[in-house]
Amino acid sequence: MSQTGVQPGVWIARPFGTTSTGEAVTCYRIENSSGAWVEVLDYGCTLRGIGVPDKTGQLIDVLLGYDNIGDYESGDAYLGAVIGRCAGRIAGAKITLSGKTYPLSANCGDYQLHGGFRGFSRYVWSAKIRGGNLVLRRRSPDGEEGYPGNLEVSVTFSWSNSSVLSVEFTAFADQDTVVSLTNHPYFNLSGAGNGTIDKHTLHVFADEYTELDERNLITGRILQVENTPLDFLRAKPLDFPVDYNFCFSRTGLHSAARLYSPESGIAMELSTTQPGLQVYTGDFLSCPSAKGGAVYGPRSGVALEAQGWPDAAAWPAFPSNILRQDVPYQQRIEFAFSVRG
Ligand code: BGC
Repeated sequence: MSQTGVQPGVWIARPFGTTSTGEAVTCYRIENSSGAWVEVLDYGCTLRGIGVPDKTGQLIDVLLGYDNIGDYESGDAYLGAVIGRCAGRIAGAKITLSGKTYPLSANCGDYQLHGGFRGFSRYVWSAKIRGGNLVLRRRSPDGEEGYPGNLEVSVTFSWSNSSVLSVEFTAFADQDTVVSLTNHPYFNLSGAGNGTIDKHTLHVFADEYTELDERNLITGRILQVENTPLDFLRAKPLDFPVDYNFCFSRTGLHSAARLYSPESGIAMELSTTQPGLQVYTGDFLSCPSAKGGAVYGPRSGVALEAQGWPDAAAWPAFPSNILRQDVPYQQRIEFAFSVRG
């Protein structure tokens, strides 16, 4: 038993209110043998909190989130949510597959951001506890937000005794479609609600990034990070705005980034099978009623979103995000927490 009397490695469910349409929402919590914990909501398949020890041994929550379901419903920052069917911006809100063009819902002016109006983050998913795994599922119907094909999606969370959070995404479509799933956790390794991320350092193992136009839409060009502010090949302070997709050429599970707070001593290493990582320094964050009464303003957290490259279906030189009928989709993201002196 841990200090709180909870059995380590076991997911515990508790009610988390009801949505505005009367659906019950559940919060799932797991602790490991050192008392470090993770919370996940079935609403939006959302990571709600991660409590890990700082350099003094005190557990602090390093993930931005809310205390009330109403704030998740009305918020527009995707705090901790799973993003689907396609992460990022899709110019012109359309995709073309085998010569056929599908108009998508345009939830941001004339383009689509993060899967459309409801995406995958504004639904209650169905949850099952399977041993140490929490498995959340939803069926995205043919035509949802404009995407072709029914898509069965599952997201599996697990939390190890060495404080590694694994998130595994699987999907299966009954027609060709496009898929790029991620989650959208904002980290503040000095503690959620405890100032900005300006003193954090970030190391990204990527030589290249995808260029954006003035509207943050993909131009199709892949550029070198060398001699630009986006060169994070050596860890450096995250004290300026970043909102870019970094490109990896490695396949399989690979180290993508390391985030560190010298204030708390907490470090996090992100590994993934995904070819891209969106780094967004939360420069437009505005959450007036966050966890524990905190107010999150600009740069209160950095979102690290391991994903396919944005708008990949439009750019043949990008790693494909087309999911063929009956071919399983599988991606993994791991967040490993530790403390440095
Ligand atoms: C995007 C940002 C966007 C944020 C919240 C991030 O993934 O890169 O441009 O503002 O999500 O929607």
